[in-house]
Amino acid sequence: MDVRRPLIIGAKGMLGHAFAERFASASPILLDIEDIDITDAAQVRAKLSDLRPDVVLNAAAYTNVDKAETDRDVAERVNALGPKHLLDACADVGATLIHISTDYVFDGSRAEGYVESDRGTDPVNWYGETKRQGEEALFTSPYPKWYLLRIAWLYGPHGKHFVDTMLRLGAEKGSVTVVDDQTGSPTYTRDVAERAAMLMADDAPFGTYHVVNDGTCTWYGFAKKIFELAGMSVDVTPCTSDTFPRPARRPRYSILRCTKLPPMRRWEEALGEHLTSR
Ligand SMILES: NC(=O)c1ccc[n+]([C@@H]2O[C@H](COP(=O)([O-])OP(=O)(O)OC[C@H]3O[C@@H](n4cnc5c(N)ncnc54)[C@H](OP(=O)(O)O)[C@@H]3O)[C@@H](O)[C@H]2O)c1
Repeated sequence: MDVRRPLIIGAKGMLGHAFAERFASASPILLDIEDIDITDAAQVRAKLSDLRPDVVLNAAAYTNVDKAETDRDVAERVNALGPKHLLDACADVGATLIHISTDYVFDGSRAEGYVESDRGTDPVNWYGETKRQGEEALFTSPYPKWYLLRIAWLYGPHGKHFVDTMLRLGAEKGSVTVVDDQTGSPTYTRDVAERAAMLMADDAPFGTYHVVNDGTCTWYGFAKKIFELAGMSVDVTPCTSDTFPRPARRPRYSILRCTKLPPMRRWEEALGEHLTSR
């Protein structure tokens, strides 16, 4: 489909910025929490019926994984109810919803990773559980016009993320200690936005897609590659998750396998582009 009137929600967030940049030629409508609260069903319905988008890209979410453990109601309302409200409102106006989810909907215990048709099971933290509920809102809706993009370990030109944290700590201290017992796929916001555009341009069948850069690493391996590509000499020491206890547990091995579309480019290549384009 030609995207003629995209509406981006969560436009001030890390991924929202990349969506805004990728769809700039279609003059997207950009909304964030000051303009629309996705926990408010009536407000969402009214906004969409007023704005009449053909595609709604939802990059809005409650994304503070540790804080979600105590801020349970808010996280649930945003991540579980938000997508339901958006899909219901999309159904009113015939729009397509692109919604974003996460590898954290899985418990990360499966050696072969997860494919697109897998349903989230036993997330190890509350954020993952709320995102799982958000996915279920799409799976159980009678309205079929949605794409669910599961992504992971996100970084990009905007927002707070691991890459910037490592660059800052490396520059300040010259050494970092990083966990080496969680494995994932670092994923570049611009590549996610590109794949979202491709799905629509190709009229890909509605449904779930895994949208991560190809390849996997631990946070330790990720940190080593960041410093290598940035040309920084920083001592990187591996450690286990127990060294840095956090309020929310993380899945150990939540690999998202891409079986429906050709793989995206390697994570190292995307990281290299990010580092040179900053
Ligand atoms: N970051 C990652 O590593 C990662 C990994 C896997 C999946 N994801 C998923 O990717 C998507 C984008 O994540 P991101 O890191 O780009 O998010 P982000 O930077 O935290 O941006 C989310 C945006 O949504 C807004 N928002 C929060 N509650 C809202 C509400 N009730 N109504 C409307 N807007 C609201 C936030 O505003 P405030 O800042 O004012 O709260 C923020 O501008 C999310 O679905 C997330 O679950 C992220």
